[in-house]
Amino acid sequence: MIIASNLKTNLTRIQTSAYLMDLENFLDEMHSNQEILVFPAQSSLNLHSGQVHQGAQNAYPAKNGAFTGEIGSEQLEEFGINTILIGHSERRHIFSEPQALLVEKFNYYKNLGFKIVFCIGEPLKVREEGEDVMMKYLELQYEGIDTSYENLIIAYEPVWAIGTGLTPTLKDISKIHLALKEKSSAPLLYGGSVKVDTAKDILACEGVDGVLVGSGALAVENFCSMIQFAQDI
Ligand code: 13P
Repeated sequence: MIIASNLKTNLTRIQTSAYLMDLENFLDEMHSNQEILVFPAQSSLNLHSGQVHQGAQNAYPAKNGAFTGEIGSEQLEEFGINTILIGHSERRHIFSEPQALLVEKFNYYKNLGFKIVFCIGEPLKVREEGEDVMMKYLELQYEGIDTSYENLIIAYEPVWAIGTGLTPTLKDISKIHLALKEKSSAPLLYGGSVKVDTAKDILACEGVDGVLVGSGALAVENFCSMIQFAQDI
């Protein structure tokens, strides 16, 4: 399974290094064969070797240039990073990233062979309009994206479940995942308020290939417990 931690704008560089070190020690001890991804804050990126794939939460679709506040592939290359998160709900909604920019990022990093975790998810208002409207909304979030890209991982993260403590029912998670799997055979992660006490059941849902966890994975021991659950399945 794929177990991913999105650290968002949390943890300093020193704290992130300690997080990764604890995680590597845990993975060594348990002989994990899970795929582990960690997305640190940009300023906490560091050279890293081990079982964990370190990824970028965001980057501009250019090697370098005049893009104030952004980093490009040259800065990622310095840290050996070839994994990136694109289309996270916080990028789409807080920073108003339009689909065209997400497609540009996707194509740029696809051409570099990056592992891309592409996020989709509906706001509550859309969900309340029923399943057909919701599935159409999710479909539009794939527009322009090559869903057959070999290094693609999709993360389904309902916007209303992120950071709220709310999650869809297990039945709904399975239902939506199975429907989404008809559109792409890429591994499909669930994200949105996954906690240490809900991860086991979510990971066991049909159609779920892993989880993308925010606040629930900020304490490394909780993230390790989730990896253990995946290993036990
Ligand atoms: P929370 O786990 O804090 O709800 O965040 C989920 C998320 O956005 C992961 O990318």
